Amino acid sequence: MIKLIGSKKVNSAVFISGKGSNLKNLIKFSFTKKSPININLILSDKKDAKGLKYARKYKLKKRIYKFENRNLDEKKILEDLKNSKVTLICLAGFMKILSKEFIKKFRGKIINIHPSLLPKYKGLKTHERVIKNKEKFSGCTVHYVSSKLDSGKIILQKKIKISKNDTVKSLAKKILKEEHKLFPEAIKKIIPNL
Ligand code: GRF
Repeated sequence: MIKLIGSKKVNSAVFISGKGSNLKNLIKFSFTKKSPININLILSDKKDAKGLKYARKYKLKKRIYKFENRNLDEKKILEDLKNSKVTLICLAGFMKILSKEFIKKFRGKIINIHPSLLPKYKGLKTHERVIKNKEKFSGCTVHYVSSKLDSGKIILQKKIKISKNDTVKSLAKKILKEEHKLFPEAIKKIIPNL
């Protein structure tokens, strides 16, 4: 168990593949007094991920691994994490699947945000499927990462109502706004048990 002594914050890494709005939000959160985390490392599998601009903007360490050789890249990533003394990994739109071995090494210390009410709508294109199925509710979930996709223990979930006029785009926007509140809350919730 990690105890926060004085203002000491937990060193964290954020893994991204895309535009990084959750990353930006977590960086801003990490700068607040009430945040129990620092962000020490940003990792992407895409060298042109838009979210990498936040590493530049906030002068945070970044690493890019293409995952063409997952085993090799994961070994290097473990080194990076060790060097940056990272305890918590936040997956925020990271599109690669981490190996069982990697997850084992960080058991209970990797969390992910997913734009649906898990266990419903695991995987990709959640909003498309939700709209197509005429669901009345959707939402977002922060969960621990296990070796099964989008299946680890749920930490927090936020439910939202879908209106008749909602489109894939409007729903994605609504949910992303909730994600930005939920992720920091989930982090605050799990830190005492890390
Ligand atoms: C979010 O909807 C997240 O739930 C999903 O990927 C998206 C990432 O968005 N896993 P962003 O890159 O943080 O803007």
